[in-house]
Amino acid sequence: MLKGRHLIEPGDLTLEELEEILSLADKIIVDPQSFYGVCRGKLLATLFFEPSTRTRLSFEAAMLRLGGKVLGFSDANATSTTKGESLADTIRTVSSYTDVIAMRNPKEGAALLASKYSLVPIINAGDGGHHHPTQTLTDLLTIRASKGGFEGHTIGFCGDLKFGRTVHSLAKALSRYKNNKFILISPPELGIPDYMISEVFEKNNIPYTINERLENVIGDLDILYMTRVQKERFFNEQDYIRLKDSYILNNEKLKLAKKNMIILHPLPRVNEISPEIDSDPRALYFKQVQYGMYARMALIAKLTGAL
Ligand code: NCD
Repeated sequence: MLKGRHLIEPGDLTLEELEEILSLADKIIVDPQSFYGVCRGKLLATLFFEPSTRTRLSFEAAMLRLGGKVLGFSDANATSTTKGESLADTIRTVSSYTDVIAMRNPKEGAALLASKYSLVPIINAGDGGHHHPTQTLTDLLTIRASKGGFEGHTIGFCGDLKFGRTVHSLAKALSRYKNNKFILISPPELGIPDYMISEVFEKNNIPYTINERLENVIGDLDILYMTRVQKERFFNEQDYIRLKDSYILNNEKLKLAKKNMIILHPLPRVNEISPEIDSDPRALYFKQVQYGMYARMALIAKLTGAL
């Protein structure tokens, strides 16, 4: 039963519940118009304490396309947070007005905290460098549409694996399926957190390797997940400048890849994917953008009990 539940990280959903959401999203993709009105009379709040383009707008578009309504803020400077109000009190307040809340916050654990005080479902739209489970729904929909399923893949995560919350959530989600292998491609300073290695890969006996050079491993991959270096989480600008262009995917590197490897990126991209590869059939990051709205439509419909 998904009605009334929170989504803070991928482990909050059983594989059956995840399948329930993804298969609803598949139906919505085929005929989005027929879902208009299922959330009539319901209200979504989008509370974004951090910048966003796709995530916030796709949540809002999703609710509007379900026939519900939206309110919220995209700049916490215009809220009582600046007067010193606690997140707990903000959530107590907003959850008194609405039926479901999508929240993004720069602090790891903020969404979990919010869920303790909320009267309605909290959807984590990103908590610092921790998790971003609705991007994972989007990524999984895209992977299944092109690869047919979630088993037996070699997945390369490339870029900022330390702060990249989309990587943490997707790796956790894919580690629950059989026969996947992970290749972690990053400079040593931006390596995946130790807790991910111990709690996700080693605990579940999942094969993983670490490599600093994309060229060395790109030929082995079925899925390449590129990420942006997360500038806003660096303490020191010099480190950012030194690391920001560590990986740039271009046509030359892509020549080494399998013909059916898919390229994903949660966006926004900065320099890490050259626009010259946008027209390559393997480049699916704009497909991900489209699927994001459908995934969120399915999730909202389930958590509000509309479907
Ligand atoms: C990602 C995020 O916010 O974590 N963006 C998104 O939601 N699609 C990735 C990023 O900002 O690099």
